Formats: sequence, structure tokens, C-alpha cells
Amino acid sequence: MSKVTKDIEAPLAKVFRYIEQEKNNFVENLKNAVSIKSVSADPNLRFEVLKMMNWANNKLKILGAEVELCETGIQVMNNEKIELPPVLMGKLGNNTSKKTICLYGHLDVQPADISDGWSSEPFILTKRDDKLYGRGSSDDKGPVLGWMHAIEAYQQTGTELPVNLKFIFEGMEESGSIGLSELLSKRKDTFFSDVDYVCVSDSYWLGTEKPCLTYGLRGMCSFGVEIKGSSKDLHSGMYGGIVFEAMSDLIHILDKLVDHKGKILIPGIYNDVEPLSEKEKELFMKLDFNVDNHLTDIGVSKPLKETKEDLLINNWRKPSLSIHGIEGAFSGSGFKTVIPRKVIGKFSIRLVPNQDPKKVSDQVKSYINSIWNSRKSPNKLKIIQSNDGEIPWITDPFNSHFMAAHRATEIVYNSEPDYTICGGSIPITLTLEKITGKSVLLLPMGAGDDGAHSQDEKINLLNYIEGTKLMAAYLYEVSKI
Ligand code: BES
Ligand code: ZN
Repeated sequence: MSKVTKDIEAPLAKVFRYIEQEKNNFVENLKNAVSIKSVSADPNLRFEVLKMMNWANNKLKILGAEVELCETGIQVMNNEKIELPPVLMGKLGNNTSKKTICLYGHLDVQPADISDGWSSEPFILTKRDDKLYGRGSSDDKGPVLGWMHAIEAYQQTGTELPVNLKFIFEGMEESGSIGLSELLSKRKDTFFSDVDYVCVSDSYWLGTEKPCLTYGLRGMCSFGVEIKGSSKDLHSGMYGGIVFEAMSDLIHILDKLVDHKGKILIPGIYNDVEPLSEKEKELFMKLDFNVDNHLTDIGVSKPLKETKEDLLINNWRKPSLSIHGIEGAFSGSGFKTVIPRKVIGKFSIRLVPNQDPKKVSDQVKSYINSIWNSRKSPNKLKIIQSNDGEIPWITDPFNSHFMAAHRATEIVYNSEPDYTICGGSIPITLTLEKITGKSVLLLPMGAGDDGAHSQDEKINLLNYIEGTKLMAAYLYEVSKI
């Protein structure tokens, strides 16, 4: 790794010392945040998301921010109406001679249960070998707290905050950020009118050693394929051989979506994929990414592609289709000799530039309908789409905003950052870019092996603390542009 040593200016050095000193308190705060089960996908836990938003609202208030919990309306889930959690919007500082930076993060998390195979309770932050395990530790409670602690460090050391800040912290990101885009669009000429730059901390390093700046994300389209066969579940002994089974119909369809090498079988799906330049491929080759370590970490022996660059191309610059699960299918232990009455297969496609979610969705629907027509099953098919999908986002990272984050990274990590795209999605990124017309930067805090969405999600204590310094240094450097 190329080593760069940068002098740390005195005010920043003071801020860093405070962050170092307050380490334990910062971990304690993360422990409190992780203990709130703010799972946005579970309607029964919606009150916890609300609790989480109130918790964060309080924290920002203590920092002196002007805050507002903004209602975003209702969501229809399984034919029931449920209230969406409010979005926390705030501002701190209004000195017109300073730059204004808008920070975005999310406080909802993916579902987690110890029975999924966690080594410790997912909602109890647990420290092992300088790693902090808990749902949301890296995605995205750790980074949101990082911003709060960076501000606290400026304030408590009597160091003037070099920028004005605006905050958007939401509780529905893991469920597609429902309602957020509409809310933000309404505030284009008010809240956003003086924003100079946008920074999102909700991505990860590519590997485990080298810091990165993220300049692209994939988009996404999600689908449910519902097959209804009977009005109730049936005994397979009594009805096997009598009825057309919904589950076999569904497996037939799902099996035709993608081949075993990951190639998507939907006609036309690759037509709009922007070709990769040789220059881009060369850049990918230079990145610090150890395929063997990456695979060992997740217990996988053979990847879909042989080389590092082909794997990165597959993950960043090509669409991929994943089948996530089947609602209504028996999944408990032991045998239940049942023919499920109705099953919903759930899958999603990650999208890359220049794919359009609407066009992809039309291609998917017409392909599934054609498979269904040839199947000649009397069962009922319904294709479900929960939203319009997310458009992929990519930006030119060679601007002064990225340069400021580059310098901040060198100050904290004594290393130049890699420039990476991420295979995941953050639905609001493109909207933030469109509304503000300003540069959006993704500043990762966690490492590539943090296990977001997985069992034993963690954030390294080092990433949590140095990442907080990085945020403080970013605010310092961005104020100089
Ligand atoms: N932090 C992730 C986004 C991400 C994933 C960035 C992988 C970099 C690498 C975010 O919280 C997330 O998981 N988003 C969802 C969005 C979806 C529900 C629309 C995702 O990507 O699945
Ligand atoms: Zn996530």
C-alpha cells in the first residue's frame, strides 16, 4: 500500500485527540443504538423504528441542531395500512461564509435473529477481538453516530465547526426509502437551496485494509411471482396426483431466470448495459482486493469468475439476479407433507448504467408471462412489484469534493484511498444529486468483511474510531474548497 504522511493541522489534531479519548463513550452510544430493533421490513417492529428516530432526534438536539421529524404518510403492506416512520431532517449552523454540507444516513436495519446463526445476540453490541458485533453496527448506525461524534468532538474541544450542516436521517432505507423522494423534492427550494455538497456514509471498503471513496452504486428492481393453486394447504398424500401444484409451477419459473454461471436468461436484459472501457478495466486491476481472503471470509470455495477484475466487473458493471426466498413455502425443520396453497417467489435484479428499471420490469414481466403460457397450468399467476425500482448511480470522482475526501483519508489513514463502485444500492443517492445539482460523495466507514445484512455483522473498533476522525477531517478539508 502506498504510504502518505500528512501533517495534521492543530485544530484537527485536537479534535482527533478528543475522539481517541471518548472511544468508550462512542462504543456505549453504538450499543444503545443497536439495542433498538429498528427493522423497517417488519410491521410489528415499526414502533422500534419510531423509537430509533426519536433517539437520533434527541441526540441532534443535544448537539444544538434545529431538528424536525417529518411525516411521510402511510405504507400499504399485506393489504394493511401502516404509518411510515418520520424522516429526521435538521440543520446546524447558518454562517453564510461557510460551505453547507448535507449528510445522509439511515437508522433502520435488516432483520436479525440469533437463530439465523449469530454467535451472539444481534441486538446486543458485543465486543470480540476489537470488533463490535451487532445488527446495524456497520449498516448504518455506526456511520450515523460517527457524524454525531465528529460534531461533538469539534464542539467539546472549542474548535469552530468549519461548515454548516444539514441532516437527513431516515428509517426506511432497507425497505426502499418509501416516501423519502417525495418529501425531499418538496424541499428543493428551501432545505436544499444552500447545500454545496452531499455526503453519504453507507458503503464499505472493498477489502479490509485499504480505505476507499465510492463513486457508483447499482440500481435495483424487485419482484414477487405469486402462484395460487388452491384455497387452502393440502395433504400431499390425499391430493398429490390430483392437483397442479403451485410450488412446482413457481420452481419452474424461478429456474428459468438465471443459469448456474450467473447469466440472466431474460431476453434483452443486457442490451442497454454500458460497455466497459479498457481504461476502467485497468483501474479495476489496480485495486486492493484479495479474492481468496474475500471468499474464505464467507466460506465460498469457487467464484463465478477467475480473475479479480472479472469479478469486479460482474459485481459493479453488470446486472445480477438473485433469488431471495419463497413466501408460503414450508421452511421449518422436519417434514410437513403439505402442498402449499399459495407461494410467492421473491427475486431482484441489480442494475447498472444505462439500464432503466421500467424497461427491465417490462422485460421481466413479458418473459415470465411467456414461460407461463407454455406451462399451461390452471393455477393463477400474479407478478408483484413493490415499487418502480432504483436507477443506478455513478459519478465522476475527479472533482474538488472527492479531492477533499481524498486528503482527509490520507490524513487519517496515511494512505491514498481506492476509488470503488459498490454492488449494492442506496435508493436516495440519485435523488439527492438531482435535487441539489451538487456533487454527491460516498464516504465509507466500515470494512469489506463487515457482513452487512448477514449473520455476525460487525464494525471494527478501528474503523469506527478512525472513521469518526475521517468524518471530522472531511468536514475540515471540504471547508477549504
Ligand atoms: N449500505 C447498503 C448499500 C450498500 C450495499 C452499499 C453494499 C455498498 C455495498 C444499504 O443499506 C442497503 O443495503 N441498501 C439496500 C437497498 C434496497 C433495499 C433498495 C440494498 O442494497 O439491498
Ligand atoms: Zn443495508
